[in-house]
Amino acid sequence: MADQAFLNRSATTIMISAMSILVLNGPNLSRLGKREPAVYGYQTLDDINRGLVESFPDVTFEFFQSEDEGALLEKLFHIEDKGGFRGVLLNAGAFTHYSIALRDAISGVAIPVVEVHLSNIFAREEFRRTSVISEVCVGVISGFGANSYHLGVRSLLGISSKQ
Ligand code: DQA
Repeated sequence: MADQAFLNRSATTIMISAMSILVLNGPNLSRLGKREPAVYGYQTLDDINRGLVESFPDVTFEFFQSEDEGALLEKLFHIEDKGGFRGVLLNAGAFTHYSIALRDAISGVAIPVVEVHLSNIFAREEFRRTSVISEVCVGVISGFGANSYHLGVRSLLGISSKQ
């Protein structure tokens, strides 16, 4: 029994280490640490990324941030074509609320995407309470600061496919 548990654990570790997760951040998230710390905290994006690497040593992360909508779309298409990605953690920033292009891109790729937000978008201004991407993401994690990203990784590790 103990041996079986060990084998299962090793098999899981091997599977996870063979898979990568893309952490994709949209506009203004490069300014974390300086930007509205009362809302978004004092951690920089590098701090958050480092925290993920430390907390999930068996996961291979790729990190990408852009202020540009097109660059985010291209990154999604690129990792789908490259293959080997278990999923995407996406903080789309303000694009969350209006980018139909981003929604279409998420909908069009076979890789599961988890929507994450540092702040609780449902407890803020009216315009932030609408996400045009939630419907095509596998789930939404919002309001836990940097921990939203950690919860997002845990969710992706428990999902085997988009459906
Ligand atoms: C955000 C929330 C968005 O409304 C905002 O435009 C951001 C950050 C968050 O992480 O809480 O840029 O996605």
